[in-house]
Amino acid sequence: MNAPRILIFDSGTGGLTVASCVRTQLPNADLIYAADNAGFPYGVWKEDALVARILHVIGTLIEKTKPDVVLIACNTASTLAMVALREKFSVPFVGTVPAIKPAAAQTKSNVIGVLATPGTVSREYTRTLIHTYAFHCEVILHGAKRLAEIAERKLMGQAPDLEELRQEVTPVFRTRGGKKTDVVVLGCTHYPLLIEEMKLVAPWEVDYLDPAPAIARRVADVLSTLRLAGPDEAVPKANTLLLTSSNDSAKKSLIAYTNRGFSAHEFVDLPV
Ligand code: DGL
Repeated sequence: MNAPRILIFDSGTGGLTVASCVRTQLPNADLIYAADNAGFPYGVWKEDALVARILHVIGTLIEKTKPDVVLIACNTASTLAMVALREKFSVPFVGTVPAIKPAAAQTKSNVIGVLATPGTVSREYTRTLIHTYAFHCEVILHGAKRLAEIAERKLMGQAPDLEELRQEVTPVFRTRGGKKTDVVVLGCTHYPLLIEEMKLVAPWEVDYLDPAPAIARRVADVLSTLRLAGPDEAVPKANTLLLTSSNDSAKKSLIAYTNRGFSAHEFVDLPV
């Protein structure tokens, strides 16, 4: 059987947290990782401009990599652009959205925190998840302005400033009617990269929900329904990293991707 080819996409290094689960779930798959580092951070973009950007970048990447499935390993992109992506491209997509449904099933206190980018917390999609699955809970949504950047910097070798981190994380720790937040949803794929530091600054212990293992299983399910295309020598080989800007910070971040298994890289310059 041909190895399935999976294009994993994020604005930056966050999708690496999902990529490692996909590797475990599907050890024989060819993974190609693409980061729209020219557009990072997605969390502060206006919705219309971001949809247009994502369609443009994904279109170029599909053309270049000919994947069997595209995994959008970014909540900020998935909560906004999945419908437009599926309308425009025929390849199957798997998205990443905040784990509000499992959090609502797991909480004992019925007080749930959701940490995500400002974009993701303001989405209609996120509100609908809450109304549908967590209507019986108090959901504390927090749009963290700098967390994704702190995670990027960590992977480039800069230790997180714990005070800055505390300010970003503590708003989801609340007490409502004598009950405390007991589950925090990591609604951005960058945040699991900071889990150890988050635990250090958290006012009390909670369960942190990272949807990555469930997403990897979903990718496997989707692949099991497909007839895979034959090998194509023209496409980048397995474990290639594609970046949309070759700026200095991209060059500094290469080591972070290499450490997580993406050893070859190419710049597909797509300026914003
Ligand atoms: N990793 C992305 C997410 O899951 C977003 C980070 C950003 O570009 O703001 O939402």
